[in-house]
Amino acid sequence: MAVRRIIRMGHPTLRREAEPVAETTIGGNSFSNLINDMRDTLHDYGGIALAAPQIDESVQLVIIDLPGGESRYGDLEALPLFICINPVVTTLNTETAGYWEGCLSVPGLRGFVVRPQHIRLTYTDEKGTRLEREFSNFHATVVQHEIDHLMGTLYIDHIQDPSLLAFEEEYLRYLVPTEE
Ligand code: NI
Repeated sequence: MAVRRIIRMGHPTLRREAEPVAETTIGGNSFSNLINDMRDTLHDYGGIALAAPQIDESVQLVIIDLPGGESRYGDLEALPLFICINPVVTTLNTETAGYWEGCLSVPGLRGFVVRPQHIRLTYTDEKGTRLEREFSNFHATVVQHEIDHLMGTLYIDHIQDPSLLAFEEEYLRYLVPTEE
């Protein structure tokens, strides 16, 4: 187990499509080590989600670990450690909403991104079982942000209004949504 270095925007791996994980790989030692490294790295960097390409492993693996409660994204429902392999996303309806997103591979910036808010995810878990799960609201945004990483897409690609991309300090000073 080890904390790995997170690569940043400009590294070509972040712009490549990640390879699907072979069924025979799942559960093996090296794949389990990769999952452990991703969990260690995520916690060390203080993030809520990480895709394997962000540690320069171009495979379709994402982990999300969202403790819930008060956070820089508001008061959130927890999404305990979720490991997702070879995911496919289906949008369930046309409802969209925007959040100020950040990314460990684009450090120091926040940007406002509008995405579908109800999705179904088909994925393989760490035991090799193919499963389905639905996500709504902020969780749906987080899942789509991570799955984008597997396709070489970054959140900044989705920003419709470039004036809504800001450094964190200016975001907190001028742009942070106010509670009503
Ligand atoms: Ni990201």
